Amino acid sequence: MWLRKIESDRLRNLKAVSLELDAGLTVLSGRNGQGKSGILESIYLLATGRSFRTRKLDELIAWSGGPLRVAGEYQWRGGESNLAVIQDDAARALLVDGRNLPFEQYIGRLGMVDLTAERMQVLRGGPEERRRFLDRGIVSLKPSFLRILGEYRQIRAQRNALLRGMIGGGSGIRQLQAWDLRLAQAAGRIHRGRREYAVLLAGKLGAPCRRLYPDGTELTLRYLPSPASSRDSHPSEYDSILLAALEKNRERDIGLGFTASGPHRDDLVVEMDGTDLRKFGSAGQVRGAMVAMKLAKLSRLQEDMEEPPVFIMDDFDSDLDEVGVAILAKYLHTGGFQAIVATSKEEFAHRLPVPFRNVKVQDGTVSVID
Ligand SMILES: Nc1ncnc2c1ncn2[C@@H]1O[C@H](COP(=O)(O)OP(=O)(O)O)[C@@H](O)[C@H]1O
Ligand SMILES: [Mg+2]
Repeated sequence: MWLRKIESDRLRNLKAVSLELDAGLTVLSGRNGQGKSGILESIYLLATGRSFRTRKLDELIAWSGGPLRVAGEYQWRGGESNLAVIQDDAARALLVDGRNLPFEQYIGRLGMVDLTAERMQVLRGGPEERRRFLDRGIVSLKPSFLRILGEYRQIRAQRNALLRGMIGGGSGIRQLQAWDLRLAQAAGRIHRGRREYAVLLAGKLGAPCRRLYPDGTELTLRYLPSPASSRDSHPSEYDSILLAALEKNRERDIGLGFTASGPHRDDLVVEMDGTDLRKFGSAGQVRGAMVAMKLAKLSRLQEDMEEPPVFIMDDFDSDLDEVGVAILAKYLHTGGFQAIVATSKEEFAHRLPVPFRNVKVQDGTVSVID
């Protein structure tokens, strides 16, 4: 997959940017605050319909006013297409070849994996960060998974509302049982989706890990479902395991007014040579593991799309030392991945062992250096 051209206007400080991109590596360089992240954000927005920094897309609109417009042309194995996202106040349009499409039909076209500023949070933050890491990966393969997540969230909210109504001995057990059943069904679909994805991702960690850590460091990734009793069971048994847990914890759930088990309590364990990185990882280990996990995502997505997705990385030099960066650049180059990366250290880029195109970003505009 090749994003040939990106246009961005009124996204943060960007002004009428139009940039042709190489099929290989593009390095965006420039001092801080110039708009490098904004360009990566434009690509992210184009691929996912979302922002990587904020939940509210209208925060991306330039302070001087909108509408924000991002457009891109890309080449894929089915031919050429173009995408556009237009955001004006709270109104958003997502266009594919000029046709306005709903979110679920828009996303998943431009295959992309990002390594952006929030990456450390995946391992350092709470379990919700790791659930999001899994869910985003699944959605990039199967956009309908978003709907499944939404259904579960809704059913759980309804069940919780019912539980709160029962505190202090309200009636409604039969109604609760009906909600439990619906909850378990929706939960089962999430459980199986995450479990399958985690297994596939874990299976893809070996190759990037061996490249990044030639000394034989081992990185493992394991899905930790809730309830824990479902961990070693067959995925098809999950619904009934959860149902039993809901029943067992019913009194406690009523007392607390919320649902204590289910996929909203899932986690993911990532270990490096046996060390649980969630708790004991050094900054360097966490960063390296994140790079490897993102490369595993890249390879999983490639398998699914049957072509290499696009890789974007902000502050290219902040996660790995110079040797690591060189290994990563070679990995992407050899794999035939298009990569767009940003750095404030231009001299770093010049020591890369692969050809690249240097694009200078200054005050919201771009110029191609070589
Ligand atoms: N909504 C906005 N409108 C205009 N400028 C903004 C907006 N949000 C952020 N900025 C500014 O955009 C500039 C570029 O930010 P960024 O893309 O993060 O730069 P870089 O990655 O090059 O350091 C910053 O100086 C920031 O203050
Ligand atoms: Mg930046």
